[in-house]
Amino acid sequence: MRQESGFRVGLVGATGAVGREALRILEARRFPATEIRLFASPRSAGTRLGHRTVNAVSADAFRDLDVVIFDTPDDIARELVPQAVAAGAMVIDNSAAFRQDADVPLVIPEVNAEALRRVPRRIVANPNCTVAAFAVPLAPLHKAATLKRVIACSYQSVSGAGQQGVEQLWAELEATIASHRPPERPQGRAFAHPIALNLIPAVGSWRESGFSEELKVAAELRKMLDAPSLAVGVTCVRVPTVVAHGVAVHAEFDRPLGVARARALLADAAGVELVDEPAAGRYPTPLAAAGRDPCMVGRLRLDEAGGLAFFVVADNLRKGAALNAVQIAERLIEMGLLTSKVTS
Ligand SMILES: NC(=O)c1ccc[n+]([C@@H]2O[C@H](COP(=O)([O-])OP(=O)(O)OC[C@H]3O[C@@H](n4cnc5c(N)ncnc54)[C@H](OP(=O)(O)O)[C@@H]3O)[C@@H](O)[C@H]2O)c1
Repeated sequence: MRQESGFRVGLVGATGAVGREALRILEARRFPATEIRLFASPRSAGTRLGHRTVNAVSADAFRDLDVVIFDTPDDIARELVPQAVAAGAMVIDNSAAFRQDADVPLVIPEVNAEALRRVPRRIVANPNCTVAAFAVPLAPLHKAATLKRVIACSYQSVSGAGQQGVEQLWAELEATIASHRPPERPQGRAFAHPIALNLIPAVGSWRESGFSEELKVAAELRKMLDAPSLAVGVTCVRVPTVVAHGVAVHAEFDRPLGVARARALLADAAGVELVDEPAAGRYPTPLAAAGRDPCMVGRLRLDEAGGLAFFVVADNLRKGAALNAVQIAERLIEMGLLTSKVTS
């Protein structure tokens, strides 16, 4: 007899910034898992996360798993995701390795859940953490008035660069406080310049993929909104916050969309929380969004160029990565597209 209530889940990259959050979210949301198997690099084999032990990936690591969430660097995902699929699992990948493949859906459930109906390679890609924050509020506005042009400038926290990013900021802050001087050189390998008391207007790696974060953000927005000719201008900036990315968005539409209508659409939008009373000091901030699920939207107004402007902040480790991946798995189950191999 088939038992549909429990799924065997794998989590690769469990020791990283996103992986640790994913484990917390699977537990907090009571994901229907009969087993959660944790993997990381051989360096972390034997590490305990709560009552579970982390393993290095071995030849039969993915055997019998129903769904595997990957939270690893791109090159590791490129190597291991096909192995998980070959072992029979559905994969939800947080890396950029497969995001632009035509036969891999790139999904935020609130934006384009219907794309989950076609998963020919059994790989679903999760978008990058910056585009996730503003695609969620843009989707209902696009549906109502059709986007013509988007300008987005990001304020990205150090955890967007993983555990090493967080460690570099803390090390530099401690040295700065001890010396009462801004850091002269980076104290870590996550960023090429000091990030404490600084901003770095260059995010992502040109060397590894040939794509800066800006190109990824634009391409991923177009793919998720199914708007191949949408003009998107992006500038990505790393800032010395720990968690949650902010994005200043200016959007133009084919059809008129006033502030009042936009406000009403956003108030009803899934995954959005309006925090927009600037006169009372209420607008979204990274500290308020960190550890929370919604994309917080405020400062809604028409700019002088006639565009609709707003500021959005979302937790990059949650909606930008781990939460979205778990929500994809939940949606696959709801849609009957993910079934358990467990039999009794
Ligand atoms: N951080 C964000 O806000 C964010 C948002 C969206 C997407 N992403 C993407 O999510 C992925 C993970 O990011 P992160 O920020 O969590 O990075 P991270 O903190 O550097 O963690 C990387 C994880 O990958 C594991 N790993 C490295 N080599 C491995 C191997 N050979 N086999 C198995 N596991 C291996 C690491 O294990 P060890 O601890 O053993 O080294 C660690 O668990 C990246 O592709 C990133 O671009 C990140």
